Amino acid sequence: MRMVEAEEHESIRLGPIPNHVSCIMDGNGRWAQMRQLDRSKGHAAAEDSVDAAVDACLELGVKWLSVYAFSTENWGRPAPEVQFLMSLQEWLLREEKRNRFRDLGVRMRFVGDLDDPRVPPACRDWLRECEAMTAHNTELEFAIAFNYGGRAELLRAMTLAAASETDVSQLSEDDFRKYLYCPEMPDIDLLVRTSSEQRLSNYFPWHTAYSEFVYTDTLWPDFLGGHFYSAVAEYQTRKRRRGGKAVTES
Ligand code: IPE
Ligand code: IPE
Ligand code: MG
Repeated sequence: MRMVEAEEHESIRLGPIPNHVSCIMDGNGRWAQMRQLDRSKGHAAAEDSVDAAVDACLELGVKWLSVYAFSTENWGRPAPEVQFLMSLQEWLLREEKRNRFRDLGVRMRFVGDLDDPRVPPACRDWLRECEAMTAHNTELEFAIAFNYGGRAELLRAMTLAAASETDVSQLSEDDFRKYLYCPEMPDIDLLVRTSSEQRLSNYFPWHTAYSEFVYTDTLWPDFLGGHFYSAVAEYQTRKRRRGGKAVTES
């Protein structure tokens, strides 16, 4: 990913803007370890990059932003780290943060299994409150994948479809989408993964079928405003064919 200069921001704003940008916020642990800090300090440092991504989406006119905050596999991490990640009410979405999002017109949604008994009730209640208090907002839809796993989502959707009145042998793709955690969430146009890893890690398999992927070596806590613009600039160079014919010279 080429880092763009601030002078280029205006022309990026005028180019094709992805409707839905999604971020696999990776590298918090390495960011902390490089500074001989506890891994949780790396997660805490990730806040500013989340704020910067929200601000950039509002400036650019991106309508949906989603981020990966906790995967179904992340339960396997050391207990103190899991405990930290399971207390969004004390860091990423603490009072002042969620009020800031509310005042900016951001609608918050949580995508994943919030009913899992391992999710502490205080966290679950807080997240539900965040959803309720921003439900009327329309500037930006901000979906936080929390206790999310792509396979779990597809399996749950199939189970719900099978238990419904619908004839599952006749299900269309649009019908199937209704059984996903967040049926309103559109396909991801631009998927960014930080920290030089190039994999999906069980993230939104349904919504990434035709996403453009941008990888960067930058660790998530260092992925601030200019980086988001750079990712969108990279997206603007891509030719999305969706199975169509490549446009060739002459
Ligand atoms: C990603 O950062 C954030 C979460 C999993 C919540 P990591 O914690 O995976 O950071 P690295 O990959 O170990 O550096
Ligand atoms: C994916 O990152 C999960 C989140 C960013 C929340 P991981 O760090 O858990 O993924 P792997 O282990 O590198 O695949
Ligand atoms: Mg990681």
